[in-house]
Amino acid sequence: MTSALCFPWTQIMELLIFSIFSTILLLSSPCHADSNSNLGSLCTEADNATNSSEYRANLSELQNSLVANAPIQNGFYTTAAGKGATMIYGRTQCRGDLSATDCAACIKNVTMVHGCSNSKNATLWFKWCFVRYSDRRIFGESDEPGMATYNDTNFEDAKVVSEGLNFTKALASTTPNQPSMFYTAVLDVGQSGKRYGMAQCTRDLSKSDCGKCLDFQLATYLNIIGNKRNWDIHGSSCSMWYYDYQFYFNYSTPAAKGGEFCELFKLLLSVSLSLFEI
Ligand SMILES: *[C@@H]1O[C@H](CO)[C@@H](O)[C@H](O)[C@H]1NC(C)=O
Ligand SMILES: *[C@@H]1O[C@H](CO)[C@@H](O)[C@H](O)[C@H]1NC(C)=O
Ligand SMILES: *[C@@H]1O[C@H](CO)[C@@H](O)[C@H](O)[C@H]1NC(C)=O
Ligand SMILES: *[C@@H]1O[C@H](CO)[C@@H](O)[C@H](O)[C@H]1NC(C)=O
Ligand SMILES: *[C@@H]1O[C@H](CO)[C@@H](O)[C@H](O)[C@H]1NC(C)=O
Ligand SMILES: *[C@@H]1O[C@H](CO)[C@@H](O)[C@H](O)[C@H]1NC(C)=O
Ligand SMILES: *[C@@H]1O[C@H](CO)[C@@H](O)[C@H](O)[C@H]1NC(C)=O
Ligand SMILES: *[C@@H]1O[C@H](CO)[C@@H](O)[C@H](O)[C@H]1NC(C)=O
Repeated sequence: MTSALCFPWTQIMELLIFSIFSTILLLSSPCHADSNSNLGSLCTEADNATNSSEYRANLSELQNSLVANAPIQNGFYTTAAGKGATMIYGRTQCRGDLSATDCAACIKNVTMVHGCSNSKNATLWFKWCFVRYSDRRIFGESDEPGMATYNDTNFEDAKVVSEGLNFTKALASTTPNQPSMFYTAVLDVGQSGKRYGMAQCTRDLSKSDCGKCLDFQLATYLNIIGNKRNWDIHGSSCSMWYYDYQFYFNYSTPAAKGGEFCELFKLLLSVSLSLFEI
């Protein structure tokens, strides 16, 4: 006998109504939007010079500084450790819709990935943020090829391909003129639904380099992503996203609130659930 059978009938009805209600709430929850994950990395081959406790201490100092400072600097920070010829330069940026809390957690997690820790030149991408470090001064430089993520059997509706690409190109030309060089836009494609675009440059770029960076990344990966329905492209100075659902958090100003709102929502839901259980 299940415990539900012990409830009087009205309570079973209440339970049923409440479950339906909370399922609807959960399905429409802002929290389904996105979760973080490791996308991959690019690094030059292991370097013997990185194999000393002193180098590790310097790298770790650099990483700690990125974790501590980027979230309070609106999601972007550059720093350096070591001196003279042994200098290492680091740069990090969080996606512009993240809360400071999510931004800090993302960078922290990136610094815990070990794959590139013997390299003096590395970029590590997570969905929510990326970290780049090098023994060369990398600030403000134009971009190198990075990576693209997509599902190679999930094709864009043929009717939407050209409109989608125009939308993405417009995104690339609009983003450099936005505050923090971060921008989201929605394209209504009628019966095929909506498309959500986002683009972002690192804030050490000039507006004109931001535009060049986005155009370059788009041109580099156009053959691969041009007919795909959901994709993102990541360089080490700019990134672009195109999805058929809203994958980013609702945000008010760049690098504000999104994730915190989501946390609040989860809290309210769990409070109301536990009230019901009483
Ligand atoms: C963002 O806000 C809009 C309008 O209030 C809502 O329809 C949408 O579900 C929200 N999306 C997310 C991911 O929070
Ligand atoms: C790294 O160290 C190993 C062992 O000491 C040595 O054989 C190798 O040549 C070194 N590599 C470089 C690039 O210096
Ligand atoms: C670093 O040192 C360890 C142990 O001394 C060795 O196994 C490893 O191959 C070295 N790595 C590099 C990149 O030199
Ligand atoms: C680590 O940093 C110190 C000073 O900040 C510097 O003197 C030293 O050369 C660096 N060591 C390595 C191995 O990069
Ligand atoms: C960071 O990693 C921890 C442990 O794997 C995980 O629970 C957490 O969700 C991650 N957070 C982010 C923002 O990546
Ligand atoms: C650093 O790595 C990137 C990507 O792998 C590469 O394009 C660049 O030339 C490298 N830079 C140096 C100084 O090795
Ligand atoms: C890729 O897209 C296809 C077609 O839409 C879908 O069936 C498949 O589950 C997707 N694969 C992944 C890993 O999401
Ligand atoms: C895309 O842009 C090109 C050039 O501006 C224009 O000729 C074409 O009609 C546009 N296509 C769509 C579907 O908007």
